[in-house]
Amino acid sequence: MTLTKSTAELYTNYKSRLQKIADVKYSAAVLQWDQETYLPPKGAGFRGQQLATLSEIAHEWFIDPSLGQLLEELQSRGDLADDERRNVELSLEDYNKQKKFTPAFIRKLSEATSRSFHTWIQARNANSFDVFRNDLEQLVQLKKEEAAIAGYEHHPYNALLDQYEKGSTVALLDRVFSEIRNPLRELLQKIGARPQIDDHFLHSHFPQQQQWDFGMRLIKQLGFDFEAGRQDLSEHPFTTNFSSQDVRITTRVDENDFNHMTWSCIHETGHALYEQGLPAEEYGLPLGEYASLSIHESQSRLWENNVGRSLSWWTSVYPSLQQTFPQQLKDASAEQFYKAINKVQPSLIRTEADEVSYHFHVMIRYELEKNLINGTISVADIPAWWNESYNTWLGVKVPDDKRGCLQDVHWSHGSFGYFPTYSLGSFYAAQMFSAAENQIPTLRQSIGSGDTSTLLAWLREKVHRHGRRYISEELCQQATGKTLDIQYFLSYLLDKYRNIYNF
Ligand code: CO
Repeated sequence: MTLTKSTAELYTNYKSRLQKIADVKYSAAVLQWDQETYLPPKGAGFRGQQLATLSEIAHEWFIDPSLGQLLEELQSRGDLADDERRNVELSLEDYNKQKKFTPAFIRKLSEATSRSFHTWIQARNANSFDVFRNDLEQLVQLKKEEAAIAGYEHHPYNALLDQYEKGSTVALLDRVFSEIRNPLRELLQKIGARPQIDDHFLHSHFPQQQQWDFGMRLIKQLGFDFEAGRQDLSEHPFTTNFSSQDVRITTRVDENDFNHMTWSCIHETGHALYEQGLPAEEYGLPLGEYASLSIHESQSRLWENNVGRSLSWWTSVYPSLQQTFPQQLKDASAEQFYKAINKVQPSLIRTEADEVSYHFHVMIRYELEKNLINGTISVADIPAWWNESYNTWLGVKVPDDKRGCLQDVHWSHGSFGYFPTYSLGSFYAAQMFSAAENQIPTLRQSIGSGDTSTLLAWLREKVHRHGRRYISEELCQQATGKTLDIQYFLSYLLDKYRNIYNF
């Protein structure tokens, strides 16, 4: 690097290198999206290889020492614009984290997760944790190594949390979960003491095509830009993007349960609106990326729950739903429909859980992961520990491993530290929605008339346009005037369910 190069030249060089790496990563994302949607079964073998090759190329390009030198040089320049400086700072931070991992370690981890994913599927088919146990032990071992390589303070799990949620720690999560569990348990008890909501009409027969068409109309109405994305079907709904100008979402349809398609459409649309709102001119650079997983999840949850399970929004949407399914919904009023979609019942499966019991599913996984990573619990203890926790916190008996500790794909992907972002996302969502209501006096009214454009504009302004400039707590502080305060979430739940269950 010669000092004769101007800052502008160096920055252009940096930008083009990062964008090329992004080109490789997003190309891998296209292959991954295809794998989950349209890939014929025989294509799976080579597809795995293609994805591994692209990931390796992206990692090698990123940890190239000459990129490190370029970033150091840029950071020492005093004449970068604010946005440029922030990009460089964040890239250097990423670089210093990534370069600790040798390509050999990345490959070992990637091989272990490919193998584990395969065994996890076998274990589910056999309904036996024992089939998964050996591979999971190796993965947990690798994750402990990963934490040691990455470095951490206080608790090894902090190193893993940091990958999904910069600044998140065991101390923060212990506080949040200890503040929330007793109020949530009391709420579950109050609800449990009341007569259960009738939701039988949600389980009538809803033909696939009509559900799909209705879902597409909902998505459009919520502001999804079909010129910059599309929706397809997949086994498990997800959102991915290849730039802010091409965001893909998927849903699944169950003809005997109206819930699956509808709230996965709204949830994934929430993720997609965030991605579509990231600044396109920052493509490939940190300011063009999402802030954190909990902020991502806050966007999906806000649309799914605070809007998509509210009485005011359904008041405007329900007539068109009733027109689409006149037979199935002929006896249900908008009010009855609203109650049915908010029915609370502790159950075994996280992804089907209601808004109250959901957080016990997350808390149990959080405690388990934390103790696995510091060695307090061993992999062999998982099923017994899991079953006991479900009994303690949710009062449900786990009948088998498939409906117990084998239900989630995350561990087989090597994702430890991911689950807590689901709960944080809900808590941030409630706080943001409350701030939006305070700041926009007409918000309730416009949502009640089916117009969510002012809400979207608020989120674009407060969250989306900033990309990765701020960590979660800073974004939350700026958008709502406070860092995370779970009272917003608790009072949202209390107001809602007091009304629905009459206590
Ligand atoms: Co989500």
